[in-house]
Amino acid sequence: MVDDTPIADLFRDLGMPPHHENCDGYGWANVDDENGHMGAIRCMGCAGENVAAGVLALIPVRFRKPIELLPAVAEWVKRGNQAEGLFLCGNVGTGKTHQAYWAMAAWCFRTLTTPASARVSETYGEQRRIPPSVKFIRATTLFDELRPSNQNTRQPVVDSQGARLLILDDLGAEKPSEFTCEKLYEIVDQRYADAKPMIVTSNVPPRALSDQVGERVASRFAEYCEVVPVTGPDRRKSA
Ligand SMILES: Nc1ncnc2c1ncn2[C@@H]1O[C@H](COP(=O)(O)OP(=O)(O)OP(=O)(O)O)[C@@H](O)[C@H]1O
Ligand SMILES: [Mg+2]
Ligand SMILES: [Zn+2]
Repeated sequence: MVDDTPIADLFRDLGMPPHHENCDGYGWANVDDENGHMGAIRCMGCAGENVAAGVLALIPVRFRKPIELLPAVAEWVKRGNQAEGLFLCGNVGTGKTHQAYWAMAAWCFRTLTTPASARVSETYGEQRRIPPSVKFIRATTLFDELRPSNQNTRQPVVDSQGARLLILDDLGAEKPSEFTCEKLYEIVDQRYADAKPMIVTSNVPPRALSDQVGERVASRFAEYCEVVPVTGPDRRKSA
């Protein structure tokens, strides 16, 4: 499945900002201040294009079809950096993962966050790992990264805590070990404490997750997430 839709068409409804009339094509626009001195401001159109490219790289081809956000999801997006948790819950095939990808896209445009991978920054010989700006991960994949046998479970924890937006897809499908639950708790508790945005999708509501991921994680989700039911038929069957 190859999708050749131009980026600008995909994201039109999310409000791609226009380029400044003096855009230099490299992200800046020359402007004169009131004293006639020349200065430069960022071109929002260029910033939007960067966001679009980063978002597109995160969305797998099946989920690239633009969809309308559920009203409660659109409201969550509007909160921008003040948004906290969003918990999309519903039966198999109702469209949770697709909503999550497009909520992520809309949130990135809203906050002009360009999805970027983790990287190491080096200043004066000192190395520092910068977490990814946006992390979208299937819960079972995260649990794989958080197994005690893995050399480095610190990195996925720190990345998941530090990302500006974390999306955890399909939580509750698997019951992780006690060790992995503890790591998941470290992630969720940090984001909860920082009131940082996070999107979770699951087949069950937050409280029903306590058997799988422990009561402390489930209870934090219940407090800090807005629960949005995703209803309707299994779209895979009707397709
Ligand atoms: N609003 C929509 N309009 C058209 N197609 C959609 C919409 N939402 C989802 N779909 C399509 O329906 C199918 C199922 O969607 P999705 O994978 O998001 O469901 P899900 O709720 O995450 O399912 P599961 O619980 O099995 O993970 C996909 O092919 C997806 O592209
Ligand atoms: Mg899904
Ligand atoms: Zn521009």
